[in-house]
Amino acid sequence: MARSRLLRVGVLASGRGSNLQAIIDASEGGKLNAAVVVVVSDKADAYALERARRHGIKGVFVDPKGCASRQAFDKALIDALTEHQVELVCLAGYMRVLTAAFINHFRHRVMNIHPALLPSFPGLHGQRQALKHGVKFSGCTVHFADEGVDTGPIIIQAVVPVFDDDSEETLAARILRYEHQIYPRAIQLYAEGRLHVRGRHVTCQGSEADRAPTEGWGYIHP
Ligand code: GRF
Repeated sequence: MARSRLLRVGVLASGRGSNLQAIIDASEGGKLNAAVVVVVSDKADAYALERARRHGIKGVFVDPKGCASRQAFDKALIDALTEHQVELVCLAGYMRVLTAAFINHFRHRVMNIHPALLPSFPGLHGQRQALKHGVKFSGCTVHFADEGVDTGPIIIQAVVPVFDDDSEETLAARILRYEHQIYPRAIQLYAEGRLHVRGRHVTCQGSEADRAPTEGWGYIHP
């Protein structure tokens, strides 16, 4: 791939950071016109920060206890991201709801990944909610973040089956495999300038070949 200027990505993560790792791997593997330039966490011991360190990426812990309000905390996030000239913010297991001020600052420049087929099962424990409801298919969604919880315009979804004997763990693992595919893919589409947002609708410029189903259990679109 021609390595023209790399899109500067900042990742917000609160936990283990496997999606962060997938993005870093795609970037280091030359599959992304993007580079993670900073990882910001609200948890000092987030494994995501350790992953950043191992790859020589700047890790920043912003202590919520050190901020007087949610607004002040999100301002500190904006400052950390701006200091690193971040162009696209990727939420990857980030467990706080962002303020309207943050969303406005980075309008249509914040992506999130959710382990369910939105608008079904937003919020916490998407896999548990899917099992409880008895759906036959679930999956994952990458979307632009807006002021709501998992409500923003949808970019990519992947569908996986739910089996009778699934536990939350087996379903989560099946979904996670596709999270790791669709998140880097959404970032690459963004980096190529192929995503267009109009209201709730995100259209993706590109060839039909890009829309082909993948092998295995899942189906990715687009
Ligand atoms: C993922 O399931 C993601 O969809 C959800 O939180 C989880 C984060 O996992 N938003 P990881 O930290 O990326 O491993």
